[in-house]
Amino acid sequence: MKPKIAIIGKGNVGSALKKGLERAGYDVRAVGKEPKAARETASWGDVIILAVPFSEVDNALREMGDAVNGKTFVDVTNVLTPDFKLALGFNTSGAEELQKKAPKAKIVKAFNTVFAGNMSTGKVKGEKLTLFVAGDDHAAKQHVLELGQDIGFDAVDAGPLQNARWLETLGYLNIQLGYTLKMGTDIGFRLVH
Ligand SMILES: NC(=O)c1ccc[n+]([C@@H]2O[C@H](COP(=O)([O-])OP(=O)(O)OC[C@H]3O[C@@H](n4cnc5c(N)ncnc54)[C@H](OP(=O)(O)O)[C@@H]3O)[C@@H](O)[C@H]2O)c1
Repeated sequence: MKPKIAIIGKGNVGSALKKGLERAGYDVRAVGKEPKAARETASWGDVIILAVPFSEVDNALREMGDAVNGKTFVDVTNVLTPDFKLALGFNTSGAEELQKKAPKAKIVKAFNTVFAGNMSTGKVKGEKLTLFVAGDDHAAKQHVLELGQDIGFDAVDAGPLQNARWLETLGYLNIQLGYTLKMGTDIGFRLVH
């Protein structure tokens, strides 16, 4: 049985992941900024994917309450200020801070290094992108590696949640390449291994 996937946030990322996961045969529900629905959807899901702006993480957590406890909880956020600077330093990460705020959830960092336009297939120009997956709970990380693989990515175990520090900076590099250096969003990272 595939896990049921609850996606909080149905913007660029939430809708792309919904499309890719449904195509892969998952039962998926996505909600936007609707507090009651966010809690209901999180309660329904076996895996929760948090796809809201970094500035909304605390609000989304409050909406979901204890519905996140015991669940695989995927943090897709890029940790940005409103003017697109890295919001945290290098001695922690958004994912580690999220784990402190939701200690009973099994936080996994993934998808943040991929542009939304490539998330429903895991590919750019027909080539598989790498999905880096970092987390401390082995079973939760396996869930995310599997669902990434099912979408079409080459899913790679990127170690403990602390390595989210480097995934968040890699996500920042992706944004620099795509927007500041004007390479566009039809790009992505691939680990040769
Ligand atoms: N776009 C990318 O290429 C990309 C790539 C990697 C990672 N990310 C990260 O993924 C996250 C989402 O990005 P996005 O591009 O999908 O943003 P987006 O298009 O602006 O969508 C954000 C979604 O979050 C919802 N939302 C906001 N506050 C909420 C709350 N308190 N509770 C529940 N839902 C809430 C919004 O709902 P309403 O529409 O109802 O307001 C909207 O559906 C961000 O953290 C971003 O850094 C983005």
